[in-house]
Amino acid sequence: MASFKLLYASFTLLALLSSSSFTLGYPGFNFGWGHGGGGGGVSRPIGGPRFSGLSPAFYSHSCPQANDIIVSVLKSAISKDPRMAASLLRLHFHDCFVQGCDASVLLDDHPTFVSEKKSVPNKNSLRGFEVIDEIKAKLEQACPETVSCADILALAARGSTVLSGGPNWELPLGRRDSKKASLSGSNNNIPPPNSTIQNLVTFFRRQGLNEVDLVSLSGAHTLGMARCTTFKQRLYNQNGNNQPDSTLERSYYHDLKAVCPKTGGDNNVSPLDLASPVTFDNTYFKLILSGKGLLTSDQVLLSGNVGKPMQLVKDFADDRALFFNHFARSMVKMGNVHPLTGNKGEVRKNCRRVN
Ligand code: HEM
Repeated sequence: MASFKLLYASFTLLALLSSSSFTLGYPGFNFGWGHGGGGGGVSRPIGGPRFSGLSPAFYSHSCPQANDIIVSVLKSAISKDPRMAASLLRLHFHDCFVQGCDASVLLDDHPTFVSEKKSVPNKNSLRGFEVIDEIKAKLEQACPETVSCADILALAARGSTVLSGGPNWELPLGRRDSKKASLSGSNNNIPPPNSTIQNLVTFFRRQGLNEVDLVSLSGAHTLGMARCTTFKQRLYNQNGNNQPDSTLERSYYHDLKAVCPKTGGDNNVSPLDLASPVTFDNTYFKLILSGKGLLTSDQVLLSGNVGKPMQLVKDFADDRALFFNHFARSMVKMGNVHPLTGNKGEVRKNCRRVN
């Protein structure tokens, strides 16, 4: 496989997180074993960046400045709102898990489909759409109708990782944009926060991703915040017996209860990595080892007692470079889930609308 160079970012953005709170929650998060419309790119090839017809050099003649434009918008957006790096990284994930990496997540409502922004995992939760709009507007000025919204999401996810102190990687490009979105695909294919380890493995496998990808990509939770509603069950009634999750470390449990009361407070937020929420590092895994994973889906990577994920949490906690290397590889794999290429789809002029 072509060179897989890891360039470690030379700087880290240090700034205080604005502790904004948003609205609503995902109370009835549906496990979505169904398959509803999304189709979510079942069985993708595995193994490295050379697949799906994408190429790192895709814009080297048509828009060589694309990445620089994106990184400059990211720098200013992240300096205004340090959480933005996390939000943009998550957008690419929520795009790729629903009909593949085709920017379906960016489409607003249309007469023939409902926006994925209204799905249970996305509503009042996904952020960063205005930053993508700004990037798209600048790219349309520099290279009209050339850089797809799906590639913008992939490039913004990489740029956000690098600007937060994480790894860099060679990113295959050439994705095109879908002409439709899938609300049911979004509800059914994005794993919920109270997932068991078996559920997580199943959701990832549906995208052609394995247990290594699951653990390394979960490491994205080294950045960003989650709302009380996504972890409340762990504090008050994890197993239907009105008891907290026994895997929660005691002092962390008490701290979380202060942020997330039994009634109300659903939109209060807590960092996914309490030690360093705006720095991309491996503390997420160290915290899991000490019972301080925020979501059930974080802690079960260890407590789920499945050999490989358990061992990987320990390995990544021990070895930052190993985590960075695997994260980069798995991001490329996730970015290759069912892209539209050739004459499929289109290059949208406005990421919110089909042309
Ligand atoms: C393994 C299954 C996963 C589950 C169950 C999960 C669940 C969640 C939940 C519930 C939140 C908080 C949302 C809210 O409160 O509104 C969140 C935030 C986040 N997720 Fe995940 N996630 C998973 C995998 C991933 C992956 C693969 C990535 C990226 C590669 C990712 C990146 C993020 C980031 C960066 C945030 C913080 C976003 C922000 O602060 O705006 N997650 N995730």
